[in-house]
Amino acid sequence: MSGKIHAIILAAGKGTRMKSNLPKVLHSIAGKPMVQHVIDCANKLGAEKLSLIYGHKGEMLKQAISQTNLNWVEQRDQLGTGHAVMQAAEYVEDADRVVILFGDVPFIDLESLQQLAQGTEFNLLTLDMDNPTGYGRIIRDNQKVCAIVEHKDCSTEQLAVNEINTGFMAINGNVLKNYLNKIDNNNAQQEYYLTDLVKLAVHDGITVNGIKASDEINVTGVNSRKQLATLEKQFYVREAELLLDTGVSIVDPQRFDLRGELNVGHDTVIDPNFIAEGKVTIGKNCVIEANVILRDCSIGDDCHIKANTIIEQSELANHVAVGPFARIRPQTKLADKVQIGNFVETKKIEMGEGSKAGHLAYLGDAKIGKNVNVGAGTITCNYDGANKHLTVLGDDVFVGSDSQLVAPVNVGKGVTIAAGTTVTKDVEDDVLVISRTKQKTIANWQRPTKE
Ligand code: UD1
Ligand code: CA
Repeated sequence: MSGKIHAIILAAGKGTRMKSNLPKVLHSIAGKPMVQHVIDCANKLGAEKLSLIYGHKGEMLKQAISQTNLNWVEQRDQLGTGHAVMQAAEYVEDADRVVILFGDVPFIDLESLQQLAQGTEFNLLTLDMDNPTGYGRIIRDNQKVCAIVEHKDCSTEQLAVNEINTGFMAINGNVLKNYLNKIDNNNAQQEYYLTDLVKLAVHDGITVNGIKASDEINVTGVNSRKQLATLEKQFYVREAELLLDTGVSIVDPQRFDLRGELNVGHDTVIDPNFIAEGKVTIGKNCVIEANVILRDCSIGDDCHIKANTIIEQSELANHVAVGPFARIRPQTKLADKVQIGNFVETKKIEMGEGSKAGHLAYLGDAKIGKNVNVGAGTITCNYDGANKHLTVLGDDVFVGSDSQLVAPVNVGKGVTIAAGTTVTKDVEDDVLVISRTKQKTIANWQRPTKE
């Protein structure tokens, strides 16, 4: 490979068809803005320079994209893809290996870019399409690429060509700069076509290599919300099918959303309407029931996540059961064999091996030992209106139903907390703690009657 990789991302198009105040490339697909996918891929490729060509709403773009080393290049008028790249020419060094990317083609893959970036001075990514209408056609002479002709400029013969230009290309900096100067706008759209580089280079005896893209999804661009929804769906189905190939069961690949990175062990079964966001790991032999949302979390082996459960920024060890209808909030750590039942909310807690909270509880800011049983209706009163405080429950504690644990509070090992108790003071090991008004009965009680 030649010099440093310089990725130039074209993102100046107005995106009128999105009918949106948001710049097109900031529309989210599979969990992040389209252009962010592209930037991430350029980073994976090892691009040392990254120029982003933007047209309007630059401030919105700058706010939304966090990457610090971006070279922001404005293209005031959109006079074509060639014109767009010209705006960045002054930042291109002769020794750069320039890779052209598009802010509205989100699923470009690392493998394709690596193939493009390696090898000879001028590489193009192409695709065979059943219906190539609208795309620039790859014109070959004796197998060799000799030009790209835009749809509107094609002869009848050229319109019959099925190999199209995806737009992605890699060119040595010196070659790019030399020919950019020579592009004109004498064509059907009166635009400066980047694609004209091909015929100019070929004319001077430079070989242009056409590399075929492996999957249309990787090179599909988005112009409308409909196209965005369609592409996103295709992407999710593809990701689901890839997981199927690795030994994971996905009951309905059509109802599986992957907005991030997901690793799943074999023989895990995932029911419909699953959403994974951020970085998610699931071990082997797990069952994930319907309507589960997992966000930045890791789940061990043999776990059972029951229907309608949400887990975020948390860690579950092995043989853990959660749900249905449970909410596991950030910084929850559940050890082996923990069981969390319905309508239980946890936040910033650790629960030791074999502990259970079966029904209707709020457990926040707590350190819970092993084999603890938390009864229904238990609440950690962790917040005094200003600060959060810790509740500690030793091993083998039994918390009776409808108890409140007013933090900060320390409950020793083996303690039994009677139902309905409000624990406000620390409790030593192995005692019963009860706070309850004595029950009284009033005989022959007359219920009020309606007037
Ligand atoms: C372009 C290619 C065509 C290819 C097709 C693939 C040219 C001349 N044609 O056509 O061969 O088959 O992509 O989708 O390159 N952009 C700017 N500034 C501009 C013009 C465009 O930043 O002045 C950006 C757009 O935001 C978009 C991309 O470049 O992301 C492609 O532009 P578009 O007008 O969609 O190109 P096509 O006409 O589709
Ligand atoms: Ca165009």
